[in-house]
Amino acid sequence: MVKKYVYGKPYNTGAVIEEVAPGKDKLCFEVEKIDGCLNFSCGLLPDEPVYGLGQTMRGINKRGARYISYNTDDPDHREDMPSLYGSHNFVVVGDRFGAFFDTPSKVVFDIDVDGSAKLNVLCHTADVNLYIVESGSAYGTVKEFLKIIGKSYIPPLWAFGFGQSRWGYKDEGDINAVVIGYKKAEIPLDYVCLDIDYMDGYKDFSVDKTRFPDFKRYVEKLKSAGVRLVPIIDAGVKVEAGDTVYEEGVKNGFFCTGGNGKPFGVAVWPGMTHLPDFFQPGAREWFGRKYKFLTDCGIEGVWNDMNEPAVFYSELSDPENGLHGEGSNAYEDYFRFYHNIDGAKVLHHSVHNLYGALMTRASGEGLDKLLNTRYLLFSRSTYIGSHRYGGMWTGDINSSFEHLKQEFMQLPNLNACGFLYCGGDTGGFNGDCTRELLLRWLAVSAFTPLMRNHSACGTAAQECFAFGDTADFKNIIDFRYKILPYLYSEFVKAALCGDMFIKPLAFGFPGDKRAADINDQLLVGEGIMIAPVMEEGKASRSVYLPEDMTMVRYNGEFICKSVEAGQIQVNIGLGEVVFFILKDKAVIVCGGAENTSKLDLTNVTLLGGREYEQYLDDGFTKNISRDNIRTVR
Ligand code: GLC
Repeated sequence: MVKKYVYGKPYNTGAVIEEVAPGKDKLCFEVEKIDGCLNFSCGLLPDEPVYGLGQTMRGINKRGARYISYNTDDPDHREDMPSLYGSHNFVVVGDRFGAFFDTPSKVVFDIDVDGSAKLNVLCHTADVNLYIVESGSAYGTVKEFLKIIGKSYIPPLWAFGFGQSRWGYKDEGDINAVVIGYKKAEIPLDYVCLDIDYMDGYKDFSVDKTRFPDFKRYVEKLKSAGVRLVPIIDAGVKVEAGDTVYEEGVKNGFFCTGGNGKPFGVAVWPGMTHLPDFFQPGAREWFGRKYKFLTDCGIEGVWNDMNEPAVFYSELSDPENGLHGEGSNAYEDYFRFYHNIDGAKVLHHSVHNLYGALMTRASGEGLDKLLNTRYLLFSRSTYIGSHRYGGMWTGDINSSFEHLKQEFMQLPNLNACGFLYCGGDTGGFNGDCTRELLLRWLAVSAFTPLMRNHSACGTAAQECFAFGDTADFKNIIDFRYKILPYLYSEFVKAALCGDMFIKPLAFGFPGDKRAADINDQLLVGEGIMIAPVMEEGKASRSVYLPEDMTMVRYNGEFICKSVEAGQIQVNIGLGEVVFFILKDKAVIVCGGAENTSKLDLTNVTLLGGREYEQYLDDGFTKNISRDNIRTVR
């Protein structure tokens, strides 16, 4: 059951799309108004876990720390960092209730900090919609919540294939080398991402003609070889007289303005840019239509970046004063520009957390209109609600085992906040990745909907063919394509039913005290438990089995073995994939292929149980329904 409590006059963020009845009972929080802020506090039971908060650092259970919803572009993801790129203000307090603080303003969550045994939520505004969700179990609470925020975005099948990316691929030659590298190694590949280097002077909706003389022809050529190109689009539009995007934006008043009413200048990759005012429906529609430039060239997917929005410095700040944190340029500048919301001039800071989400909405709605098929879209900055228009990636993580674990722990909480299509930069973005780290990371990403290898310019080459012998890489990515019928089917079924695709072990085995504390094992779909090696130099790990399961080892073929409930030690060699099929569940696999267009999803083999409900379509149709589910025996 969900109830809504309204404080002040909250801005409609669009996160909740179902009608929710007003709450009449006494609220589970004490509410206090302090200096224009609202403070909500309640006690926590001893050992009661707190889930949710989507993209945040630390473990799956968020208890014991402070988290701040204030979208931040800071690549230094230390364990104690309170803010990341997105804001997902939904917390699940054990089996008792869930609470969604729906406001685009800053929100501070103190969850049993200093042993206070309290959940304290300070909203930096007096205008909040609060949704209280109750169901009797933590997992049930999440499912109730997913119902009111609406169905997850569902990408095309090819978006579940493997993608290669790098900031630094500058021209056709660089992209060709990637495609050939994968082809030679016989490693499947579905798409290559284009980072900012493909643009002309980092201008949105432009292509550098010296690097891609005939972009449309090139896109089509690669597509006929089974590889799609996925270009990046950043939030800031370069200030350049004569550029149509810039000129149209100024003429129509579609950019955020400064105190003087003129478009406000913020510096990002192109130098000075203006930020589209995605709070204006007209500006969203306009920006969405601009993707025609790309779709006319055959593009079917894009990624949206720098949309927190990232601000290096502005027309009013000092270019030398660092990028991040309170007192930095970005933070100060968020108090210097405005949105036009239904004719009212609204300070950016007060609606900050919604900016990236509204860019995703503009892009998703635009692409949907422009294409006859489903589109691929993932964004860096998000807010609950944008999960209906696109997916997300977890930003600039390091090439380190620590960040691999961190990304792993974020997955279930992102799912609990609606973001089913997600994943991190496989191999890590900042720093040099080792062969061992990339292989271990791939064995995790093999189960995440977005499986993309991406790295920063200046770092060591990170493509799967850059480390000598490619057999181990091929094995893991072959595995991904063979298990794809299961992943695709489970993903779409979860989206259709308002369920999570990746869950904490605790949700699958409520009441199991050992399962409750596990951070390094997850459930993927209804039938799989994963327990990957995420430590350097380890060839085996301890795995907890809450029930009897089938252990599956993939090394060119699938070898199944029954294992009994309890704690076991499992050897997992580099390049191997091991996973577990839950008791009475089944998994389907197919024969694999060099890309998704060649996969035969109709010809599948059962592993584990005897029956599987498979969601099956052509991978492109917008007509997604439960009618496409068939029983495989
Ligand atoms: C940001 C993105 C990263 C991208 C880079 C250059 O740091 O998070 O993925 O490669 O910008 O566009």
